[in-house]
Amino acid sequence: MTGPELAEAGRLLAAARRPVVFTGAGMSAESGVPTFRDAQTGLWQRYDPLELATPAAFRADPALVWGWYEARRHGVRRALPNPGHRAVAAIRARCPETVVITQNVDDLHERGGVPAPVRLHGSLFAPRCSACARPAPIPEDAAAPGDDAPPGDAAAPDGMPEPHAGPLTPPACAGCGAPVRPGVVWFGEALPSAALDAAVEAASGCDLLLTVGTSALVHPAAEIPLVAARLGAPVVQVNPVPTPLDAICAVNLRGPAGEVLPALVRAAWPDADAAWPDADAAWPDADAG
Ligand code: APR
Repeated sequence: MTGPELAEAGRLLAAARRPVVFTGAGMSAESGVPTFRDAQTGLWQRYDPLELATPAAFRADPALVWGWYEARRHGVRRALPNPGHRAVAAIRARCPETVVITQNVDDLHERGGVPAPVRLHGSLFAPRCSACARPAPIPEDAAAPGDDAPPGDAAAPDGMPEPHAGPLTPPACAGCGAPVRPGVVWFGEALPSAALDAAVEAASGCDLLLTVGTSALVHPAAEIPLVAARLGAPVVQVNPVPTPLDAICAVNLRGPAGEVLPALVRAAWPDADAAWPDADAAWPDADAG
């Protein structure tokens, strides 16, 4: 990432009044939450999504699937928002019309200062009945081994939350008694229509779209940056590696979100400290580049 690229992206951000920030798993990578497709560390490099992330997988083995999502939820609970999450909150603090759209199922945007991101793929913290869809409580009382680890101790050495690796019988719905399922969108399932409508509307009306940490391979979510570009909004990408979005981007910032986003906020607003939601959050100097 060169100075001129950061400066150009900063200029676009400073000029924006209705920015959209669109995030994927790379946004939380520096918090110790594994992505899905990164070589070696990505979840789908080690686990078969067809065994764990489809309605059929849940019907076939609810305990295997529930246990796996509970392990991920416990890993996320111990994770902390990184400077990238805080930079997104800083953008929203500067531009109140900012819409944050995420594919992530962790709660790090909320804990990083963005109260209500548009959630395209659901949340690990919104379990519901697999039959009647009745919301179910988060089984917090059923503390998992290793839960007493301090926040920030997000990941096992290789990045995967191992404290509760193994089948776990899902709770029964308080209403109809059917098994409770994770509140995430599985492969083959429709996205929540209200969230998708809100995302398309925001992308259609934005004057800048910042896409962060997504491989842009999973549709229909991956359409969102294309909607903005088709309607003439500049798109800025933050990702250490090229993605299918490169060609539609006005600027490609190659680097990790936790470093690039704070630098971008400073490039847009040199006095950004004033707008920083968490003054004592450590962040790198913008000129580090
Ligand atoms: N900062 C920014 N980007 C990063 C970082 C980082 N620190 N680390 C990795 N990345 C990038 C990778 O280069 C990759 O392009 O983040 C991207 C992560 O891609 P995926 O693992 O495919 O995650 P995502 O795009 O969010 O997946 C979309 O697929 O499995 C489903 O439902 C799941 O929401 C998910 C969807």
